[in-house]
Amino acid sequence: MASSHHSLQFPLFTALLALLGTRLVVTYDTSILKSTFAAAPATCLTSIFSFGDSLADTGNLLHYLGDDAGPFAHLPYGETYFHNATGRFSDGRLIIDFIAQSLGLPLVPPYLAGTNAQDFRYGANFAVAGATALDNDFFRAKGLNVTWSEYSLVVQFNWFKQLLPSLCSTDSDCKGIISNSLFLVGEIGWNDHGYSFNEGRTADEIRTFIPNIIEVISSVIDDLIKLGAKTLVVPGIFPSGCVPVYLTWMQSEIVEDYDPDTGCIKWVNEFSAYHNQLLQNELDRIRRLHPHVTIIYADYYEALMSVFRSPEKFGFKKAPLDACCGGGGPYNVNFSLPCGGPMATVCKDPSKFVFWDDAHPTEAATEIVARGLLEGPYAYPPILQACSKVESDASQLQPLFHPTK
Ligand SMILES: *[C@@H]1O[C@H](CO)[C@@H](O)[C@H](O)[C@H]1NC(C)=O
Ligand SMILES: *[C@@H]1O[C@H](CO)[C@@H](O)[C@H](O)[C@H]1NC(C)=O
Ligand SMILES: *[C@@H]1O[C@H](CO)[C@@H](O)[C@H](O)[C@H]1NC(C)=O
Repeated sequence: MASSHHSLQFPLFTALLALLGTRLVVTYDTSILKSTFAAAPATCLTSIFSFGDSLADTGNLLHYLGDDAGPFAHLPYGETYFHNATGRFSDGRLIIDFIAQSLGLPLVPPYLAGTNAQDFRYGANFAVAGATALDNDFFRAKGLNVTWSEYSLVVQFNWFKQLLPSLCSTDSDCKGIISNSLFLVGEIGWNDHGYSFNEGRTADEIRTFIPNIIEVISSVIDDLIKLGAKTLVVPGIFPSGCVPVYLTWMQSEIVEDYDPDTGCIKWVNEFSAYHNQLLQNELDRIRRLHPHVTIIYADYYEALMSVFRSPEKFGFKKAPLDACCGGGGPYNVNFSLPCGGPMATVCKDPSKFVFWDDAHPTEAATEIVARGLLEGPYAYPPILQACSKVESDASQLQPLFHPTK
């Protein structure tokens, strides 16, 4: 991927995943058949904290770069919903925006744009476009030319730890806030692949980085749980073989490289699926260690594949693998003519397109993915059922209360 100085062409998918908190603590004492539980708060999830890349950045990179931010700081970015460029890599809302709105919470403010703790009473977004899961030292040690800023997952997590004392004063205060929060841990890791492919590394080599990527995601989840997190959403990565930037990089004369039904590049999708499988295996392991924590895998991959398999069913055009906004060429991708720059063209109706620019979905496609996470079937439990799950667990226990009169 021809990356610009800021290496933002290759967006990182940000993941949003909410964690559903299980705030019900049931203690069985079978000898006396009695159970007690901590009362669930009126609202299950009262704030959102998010880590990730451009798929979740609601303005951090824009704020950091300021006037010099580049093409994404201009319309048509933002044209559909905000009617202005907000720093989101989209024509409209991101998954995190749909989640916040569905939970009745304000849009999650970018951490770097905040001025005081009051700005973050309903959460904070630490995601930065271009961020990697792994620290830059990892890539340097592999001989990669690191040209992107250090906004790795650990850097973002440290921001959270720095912010926390201003949101709560005592340990139990903080635990209370954290246990009622939804944590979106990702999407993160997609840029780790992207930068490496962009520098000509082979899939075989990059595959060996994946366990390191998963390990750092896992350690942040573990630290969040130690701080009291009960509800986490951890997204997988997109099917990269369907994404315009990868379709452009990896284009091939070999017909068999392409899936005849979708036009996606099969081996690239298998690479993404491998990453997602390792991530899910790790989440299974963490769930076994922490049965009272709700860790929701957000299946970005399958949610998007369902769209590519029958785009018209969802209101998109046929074969929607090209970008709405870009500089021409087979997928409307020309790295020297980026969306937001003077020479790019924009489609008339972004709601017919799955991709807004070379790597990021339109608001229309994002909404479909978000709905699949909020209501199912692409998250289990669906994010909106986190609270009712808690309630139904409680109702199943009800009979235990009656006999003791
Ligand atoms: C649009 O966004 C820019 C920053 O990208 C900001 O300076 C400007 O005030 C915004 N305009 C409106 C009308 O919100
Ligand atoms: C690293 O990338 C920068 C920016 O693309 C380039 O100017 C520089 O020459 C590269 N360095 C090496 C050692 O390849
Ligand atoms: C990208 O645009 C430039 C400028 O118009 C053009 O010279 C170049 O051939 C284009 N590249 C591709 C791959 O189409």
